[in-house]
Amino acid sequence: MKVLGIESSCDETAAAVVADGRVVLSSVVASQVAIHRPYDGVVPELASREHLRVVAPVVSRALAEAGMAADTLDGLAVTRGPGLIGALLVGFSFAKAYAWALGLPWVGIDHLEAHIQAVFLGDDPPPFPFVALMVSGGHTCLYDVTGPTAMTPLGQTRDDAAGEAFDKVAKMLDLGYPGGEVIDRIAVDGDPTRVAFPRPFLNRDTFDFSFSGLKSAVRRHLETHPPLCSRDMADIAASFQEAVVDVLTAKAVAACRRRGCRHLALVGGVAANGRLRTRLTADARSKGIRVHIPAPAFCGDNAAMVAAIGYHRLAAGERTPLDADVFSRHPIRIG
Ligand code: KG4
Ligand code: ZN
Repeated sequence: MKVLGIESSCDETAAAVVADGRVVLSSVVASQVAIHRPYDGVVPELASREHLRVVAPVVSRALAEAGMAADTLDGLAVTRGPGLIGALLVGFSFAKAYAWALGLPWVGIDHLEAHIQAVFLGDDPPPFPFVALMVSGGHTCLYDVTGPTAMTPLGQTRDDAAGEAFDKVAKMLDLGYPGGEVIDRIAVDGDPTRVAFPRPFLNRDTFDFSFSGLKSAVRRHLETHPPLCSRDMADIAASFQEAVVDVLTAKAVAACRRRGCRHLALVGGVAANGRLRTRLTADARSKGIRVHIPAPAFCGDNAAMVAAIGYHRLAAGERTPLDADVFSRHPIRIG
């Protein structure tokens, strides 16, 4: 079953064709980073306009790269939320019209569930059940995953997401947008023990996270100890990153142990972080837990992950009605 995926929840317009939820036939991602960079963050109105400009050509390219005509598709999956409403509406409305015109079965997809599905697009998919640590610019959550569409949230951030903290700290350090990747890069040469930043919620018996206090601690440190050279910048970046990695690693490993799971998936944009990948893999291994991480192309926002979960939902008979709407956020049930 060949499913077309469409993603437009934030600042990437993406389309992909995936066979049977596993084989990526094409994956096209049009990034808007250059448009938002001058503003040091995503400007929702500009994001919507750019999605509108490129969504049709991005879908055409995804079909062309898969070597397919639109009428040979078996289904369509599109991100419904959470995300920026205006941005979501562009992909969602396009998908509705496309599916209706072609008579295709279609389904609206939860963006966070799609990120988790990305782990099945590589050569190292985890067996069920597994725990998923979903770390992106908008979300930080732990899930208990017992089947392709069976995901129960175990905890989530109470304020800023991990990626958001990376981006805000990068902004404080004048490193530009998006900052996660830059912090990752400069932290390699820094001393992670130079500044003892707080590890929020590390010792609390909860799978929830909180990163806004850490962000404020970095701001206060910068006010009293402004970096004087690139060495200082690298040390602050490394110390901040280490605090985030300590908390994410400890909670994810604890969740696996609590659930009796031997497999852990690390997904979302922050899964590209080198230090997090290394630490999580090593700490989990020492507890007999194997970590599975999607290829870098499938960590950040993409449409292959949307098509992948769409396949399972469509195969299970799920359909979204044409009068369905997008959603910006959803209250996550903690199971
Ligand atoms: O999943 P994603 O592409 O979009 C959302 O759904 O939010 O995640 C984007 C986030 C941004 O905050 C970005 O700074 C962060 O992922 N990110 C990183 C790295 N690469 C991207 N954070 C830390 N280290 C990285 N290497
Ligand atoms: Zn995302």
